[in-house]
Amino acid sequence: MKIRQEIRTVAVLGTGQMGAGIAQTFAQSGRKVVLYDSFPGAVDRAVAGIGKSLDKFVSKGKLEASVADAARSNLSPGSLSDVANVDLVVEAIIEDPATKRALYEQISANVAEEVIFASNTSSISISELGQASGRPERFIGMHFFNPVPLMSLVEVVVGLRTAPPVVETITNLSKDLGKTPLTVKDHPGFVSNRILMPMINEAVSCFADGVADAETIDGVMKLGMNHPMGPLALADLIGLDTCLFILEVLHRDLGEDRYRPTPLLRTMVRAGMLGRKSGKGFYDYEQ
Ligand code: 3HC
Repeated sequence: MKIRQEIRTVAVLGTGQMGAGIAQTFAQSGRKVVLYDSFPGAVDRAVAGIGKSLDKFVSKGKLEASVADAARSNLSPGSLSDVANVDLVVEAIIEDPATKRALYEQISANVAEEVIFASNTSSISISELGQASGRPERFIGMHFFNPVPLMSLVEVVVGLRTAPPVVETITNLSKDLGKTPLTVKDHPGFVSNRILMPMINEAVSCFADGVADAETIDGVMKLGMNHPMGPLALADLIGLDTCLFILEVLHRDLGEDRYRPTPLLRTMVRAGMLGRKSGKGFYDYEQ
């Protein structure tokens, strides 16, 4: 089976928080990145955010100014027809299987058959998305962590029909990005979110029960368990809507009560309290 192994140009589809971080990581590694988002203004916001992040790394002495400048020049906003010449497609759009399927259908005919599609999905089945993409052997999960430029893990998720050379290509690529790839099978929540989300859900439950306030719950986990952030602050960083979505997948696909989302989490999402991105979550970010 032919696959494109040399990855010099990448399309990042979806330039929200994760897509922007992924694009930055590829650009810093010297690769050309085409950025696409269907929401007007999203790509400009991503490029501005990446610029700030690069400036921060330079001002802290963590990145050479010349590398940051090169990374900036590696980024170019594009349309869906610009994916025709890329060596890899990384999809990081909203967590909705139907929307992802529609996007894959739109681009499939434009992209050479040997090009790998990678999804940054946090919990949708890679086997299901691979089937939807029309190239299940060349489809894989490349699950990055927020904030992407700072976090070393790439959880490489292998679908039932993902071909072994695709796993090898993506593993080598992740290392070349300066990340540590860890390979897992396609299973609800993979490894990361199957373990992380029940902890966050339990923290929300403690908060809802009035066991302690948010600072105290987070303080217990930071000081007692040496976690860099408490679970409620982390939920705010990830987005409460994303946490709820992942818990719903775990609850539905594993069928066990222990994954049932805490009702308060659902109510906060309904109230538009999504965490940092909406200005309010367990903490207030509006000031
Ligand atoms: N680019 C550049 N710099 C950045 C940055 C970015 N994108 N994001 C944060 N920084 C900076 C901060 O501004 C800060 O700079 P400063 O020292 O000048 O203030 C510096 O990095 C370090 O941050 P902090 O001082 O706040 O200190 P920390 O050492 O706590 O690092 C952290 C921050 C890396 C976010 C750390 O708190 C951490 O590891 N938190 C846990 C994050 C985590 O668990 N992420 C995974 C979420 S799960 C996920 O993404 C999967 C999905 O499927 C749900």
